[in-house]
Amino acid sequence: MPDKKHLQDRPIGVLDSGVGGLSVLKALVQELPHEDLLYLGDTARTPYGTRAEEEIRKFVEEMLCYLEEQKVKQVVLACNTITALGCDRLQKAHPFVLVGMSKGEQQLLAAAKNKKIGIMATPFTVASAMHKKALEAIDPAVQVYPVPCPKFVPLVEGERFTGPELDSAVDEYTRPLKEAGVDAVCLSCTHYPFLQKELQAALGSAVTVIDPAEATALLCRQQLEGEGLLNEKKTKGSVTVCCTADIERVKRLAAHMLSERECDFRMVTLPSK
Ligand code: DGL
Repeated sequence: MPDKKHLQDRPIGVLDSGVGGLSVLKALVQELPHEDLLYLGDTARTPYGTRAEEEIRKFVEEMLCYLEEQKVKQVVLACNTITALGCDRLQKAHPFVLVGMSKGEQQLLAAAKNKKIGIMATPFTVASAMHKKALEAIDPAVQVYPVPCPKFVPLVEGERFTGPELDSAVDEYTRPLKEAGVDAVCLSCTHYPFLQKELQAALGSAVTVIDPAEATALLCRQQLEGEGLLNEKKTKGSVTVCCTADIERVKRLAAHMLSERECDFRMVTLPSK
């Protein structure tokens, strides 16, 4: 393996359409405390999950170019919608290694005793069927119930964590899963852990709700170890949260996931492609 020691001190880039990936950033801070983390949320153009593929690809490429300019060693796609575009294809034009969201397969299959699994995700992720394919590849007998939840991302980005709009969206999207009698549900959009309490309450305590953020952080560590890119320093890494709009809103939403003293905030302009 070529010696990559000179790259070990570089930051890890973390990407999302908005604030959702902060739920993954939290898991990365815990799993990789000595790494410098550089988060980028495209808050000016969120949501992505209701857009056409070509447009999402253009936006993602702009974000990847920004992270390349920042000389990151690894990019974590802290977004299922972006992961659905295909890691290999996104990786191609760039020098860093890239990790997508875990599909939570192992945890889901362990929790679903009746082999009925719900997937809550954006319309784009549901249309890609990536979770269904990953689960069926391990266990062809599994029954997967995907539910597109387009109202959740605007509610989270809009800080609307209480009220009739949220209640009715939670009811609308959990109802088909309750009717199907699923044992386990994956929060397959990184914005949804912001609503985890409400979703767990609506689904009931018999249903295991899985956030694949920790499994994703583990995939990142394994890739860094495998590539010889793990930072060997023993001091605490830095956390920088960049966004393309509404920095004060991003600060408030980040407080749901991270303690304020642990990060710096920065507005950025993306290079247009
Ligand atoms: N947080 C994202 C995901 O995991 C995308 C949400 C969106 O922009 O629609 O899918």
